[in-house]
Amino acid sequence: MAFVSNDEINTIRSKANIVDIIGSYLPLTQRGKNYLCVCPFHDDHSPSMSVSQEKQIYKCFACGATGNVFTFVENYENVPFIEAVSIVADKCGMELSKDVLTNTKVDNFKEEHAIMELSQKFFQNNLKTTAGVEANKYLAERGITPEIINEFGIGLSLDEQDSLYKVLKKKYSEDKLLELGLVSSSNGNTYDMFTRRITFPLWDKDGNIVGFSARIYRGEKDTSKYVNSRETKLFKKGETLYNYHHARDVAKREKEIIVVEGFMDAIRLSVNGIKNVVALCGTALTKDQITLLKKLRVNVILCLDNDNAGELATMNNGELLEKDNVPISVIRLSGEKDPDEYIVANGIDAFKDNLKNPITFFDFKMNYYKNNKDLNNSVDLANYINEVLKDLNNSNDEILKEITLNKLSEDYGLSISVLKEKLSDIKPEKKEEKPIEVQEKKPRKKDSYTIGADNILYFMMNDGKFIKEYEAKLGFFDDEVRRAIANEILYYYQKEKKINIADFITYASSKDEIKEEVMRIVNDCNIEDELTIEAMDEYIDVVNKVLTTREIKKLKEDIKKELDESKKMKMLARMAELKRGSVDNG
Ligand code: CTP
Ligand code: MN
Repeated sequence: MAFVSNDEINTIRSKANIVDIIGSYLPLTQRGKNYLCVCPFHDDHSPSMSVSQEKQIYKCFACGATGNVFTFVENYENVPFIEAVSIVADKCGMELSKDVLTNTKVDNFKEEHAIMELSQKFFQNNLKTTAGVEANKYLAERGITPEIINEFGIGLSLDEQDSLYKVLKKKYSEDKLLELGLVSSSNGNTYDMFTRRITFPLWDKDGNIVGFSARIYRGEKDTSKYVNSRETKLFKKGETLYNYHHARDVAKREKEIIVVEGFMDAIRLSVNGIKNVVALCGTALTKDQITLLKKLRVNVILCLDNDNAGELATMNNGELLEKDNVPISVIRLSGEKDPDEYIVANGIDAFKDNLKNPITFFDFKMNYYKNNKDLNNSVDLANYINEVLKDLNNSNDEILKEITLNKLSEDYGLSISVLKEKLSDIKPEKKEEKPIEVQEKKPRKKDSYTIGADNILYFMMNDGKFIKEYEAKLGFFDDEVRRAIANEILYYYQKEKKINIADFITYASSKDEIKEEVMRIVNDCNIEDELTIEAMDEYIDVVNKVLTTREIKKLKEDIKKELDESKKMKMLARMAELKRGSVDNG
């Protein structure tokens, strides 16, 4: 990041009261000096999150979420840092200057992203050359206009084995290109990973190109329809939902997101004005993808392929989402194979009519259980009723239960009292532990060094006087992580001449090497305690003692091994000094 600490961002932080900002999303209750709320970052049932007005930070006792007003908005709204700053500024009637917006983008993969962008441009440009005639014809036949090509960055990989490699190797190392999955090498030759295909860039949740999916277009029979980038440090298939970065904001406005199977489906909906759509790209939803959807806090509409596989996928993905308490409804189109073909055949208005009347996931399941059953056959009917009742039993929606029982009773001529009895007979399924997004924090057994050292760092983040105390009485840590954090604190303080925990968190958030540990330390320390020099000195004493013991132990081992007599003498002297306890650790 270009700045040590940005004045404008710190000003916004100091003008925004974290209690008001979090309070604009969630109800807060005052408890002493602090405020409590139900933590939005895990499946919380009792208020586990504490918000400190004085320190302008929050922490969750259960899942370990910690941070300042910006990290809260970043995580709650699922937006990049600078957008979170913008949102906070907006909420308190301020505006963020263009300068900050352009200079504070943090990109840890700048070169990698540039390479992916360049590859995408190369592919897209190929469509404009004579090599692209056939591909353009294919795209035009599928109704993919030049505007759509631009919007979705569609391109063409050429017939030659190494056309992309030739372009990229002028500027980038082969290792880098191998690492990004753009080329492969065998027998000393390097080849493009994508050839003879229409290319579709794949983006991460923030809209960076991280990989490609590429489709045949000349009807080849001996190869798979799509090839995808392999997993790389940029591309994680299980974390990617196609079109998520385009869809996110619209989905929040519309309060719903449509999930389709293939990316041609997503493209087709999007270019027809339905922009709140993401594609699974042919896999079952992963935990990370569910988290992405869940973070939107909107209704999820599953609109998968119209065939049996799509129905099964609706069932499986629906159950995953349901287990995670995501509100779902379902659209089942009829006729064509998938939403893309449906819209091409019937027009967008026909699709919109379907969109107006999605069915609930429960109704979908009621229908699904009928598959392969002849309900005139009493054995099949009994099985069917059992499946429905079993499902109903897991619901705590009493009205839904009543309606469903009445419906079953009417449709199949069964007495309502028998159905009710049967329902109450079913043993409640052992409810699966509700899955949570963030791992529950396991209580760690902590040794005195950890507690002392963490608290010292925590004190230092809060006030310059504690930094001075550290420099005077301790001066170092013997583990690398804490040493790095202490160095960052000293560096920050030297530049800024002042420090407070909320602004230091902004700074630490931009440093990948220390970010996580800083948050852990803040979360582990007691944000309610009053911080005094006396308390700090006690922690320094503890750490000093541990450091001394460790050094003595190490000296003992080294002395045994040391052959040089004069060095040995020096070591012995140091040990005696340490044992007397009159050490200067400087
Ligand atoms: N897919 C894949 N590899 C394959 C086939 C499919 O990765 N060999 C993924 C693609 O992301 C595709 C999705 O699964 O978008 C759905 O597959 P399918 O329904 O077969 O593709 P369509 O989206 O219908 O593609 P198209 O319309 O281009 O035929
Ligand atoms: Mn299709």
